[in-house]
Amino acid sequence: MGELRIKKEDILRALSTVEEPDLKKDLVTLEMIKDVELGVGEVRFTVVLTTPACPLKEQIRQSCEDAIHKLVDPELRVVIHMSADVTKTVFGNRTVLETVKNVIAIASGKGGVGKSTVTANLAVALKNAGAKVGILDADIYGPSIPVMFGAEEMQPTVTVVDGKNRINPIIQYGIKMISMGFLVPADSAMVWRGPMASQALRQMMGDVNWGELDYLLIDLPPGTGDIHLTLVQSAPVTGAVIVTTPQKVALADARKGMQMFLQPQINVPVLGVIENMAYFTPAELPENKYYLFGKGGGKWLAEHFDVPFLGEIPLVQGIREAGDEGRPIATQTDETTGEAFRTAAEALARRVAIRNATQERTKPVEMTV
Ligand SMILES: Nc1ncnc2c1ncn2[C@@H]1O[C@H](COP(=O)(O)OP(=O)(O)OP(=O)(O)O)[C@@H](O)[C@H]1O
Ligand SMILES: [Mg+2]
Repeated sequence: MGELRIKKEDILRALSTVEEPDLKKDLVTLEMIKDVELGVGEVRFTVVLTTPACPLKEQIRQSCEDAIHKLVDPELRVVIHMSADVTKTVFGNRTVLETVKNVIAIASGKGGVGKSTVTANLAVALKNAGAKVGILDADIYGPSIPVMFGAEEMQPTVTVVDGKNRINPIIQYGIKMISMGFLVPADSAMVWRGPMASQALRQMMGDVNWGELDYLLIDLPPGTGDIHLTLVQSAPVTGAVIVTTPQKVALADARKGMQMFLQPQINVPVLGVIENMAYFTPAELPENKYYLFGKGGGKWLAEHFDVPFLGEIPLVQGIREAGDEGRPIATQTDETTGEAFRTAAEALARRVAIRNATQERTKPVEMTV
């Protein structure tokens, strides 16, 4: 008995005791509860998360159920639908990439540590979680995204919008992507001077029909050069991810990369560190880990700079092979290495949500460089 007397307000009162673990406010205040419907012996509602890649999904679901059972009725059947509306980084003057909610720069310092591999697989993992994802290959002189997605032969089409030519991105595995590799013949960009490369980057941001995107990942070239400065000057960057291997030389360069984003004139938050090639795992002995390049360097770097550690990716032959074959390993959902990328993608999405919720404390990028 008593079921019929349960009101929507009782449900909301119970749910207002459930705190979003990262945002430290309750779900009702955060307007995350929608469509509460009471039926005979049951209640249904939707929890709108800040990202579909939310690693706390199950925890939040359980807390909602527990609160209702404890505070409303222990017998009530609780049916929760999880959806997501990815939050957007707010900038004062967003004149490029207006339809992109979050722009994430993937950088390293040292070359060859796996930025492009990490970008490709994070993109796939975010897409698999249900997000709308794009990749902008900002490595003008050495683009690798077309090969990694098996799209070397593809050429973008152009649509005229309001009298202007707009480039339609290539779509592979449900991810929108643009790269110099699609726009000019191989090797022809090699002779370009810096200003031409910067102009090309601006066009890839401004003249491409990106449409609605939750996350646009920018695969940066190694180092801290013109392209990096052009990016932070001309785009609203949510934050940067620093990729490093555990090796001393890579860590030293990663520090420089990190310092560039953090310097006051640039002021792009570092969302975290990903340690790639963290350990070697042979396919036939997946339990064995060999720390070829040293152990824990990425974690150390994250701690030293007081930024989050987002995850470690093992060195496995399958990751390289999948990249060379044009189908990132994260597209093969049964792969345990794909799992490493999924975990890192969730950690990243979580940091983006926290960044967006606390951004009044994070000054938007000043375009003064
Ligand atoms: N975790 C991994 N396991 C195995 N191979 C990997 C891994 N990460 C990257 N690789 C391989 O290492 C090589 C370099 O990776 P990638 O091109 O992603 O690095 P990068 O940092 O983007 O390089 P660049 O600085 O030239 O842009 C590629 O052949 C890639 O397949
Ligand atoms: Mg690269």
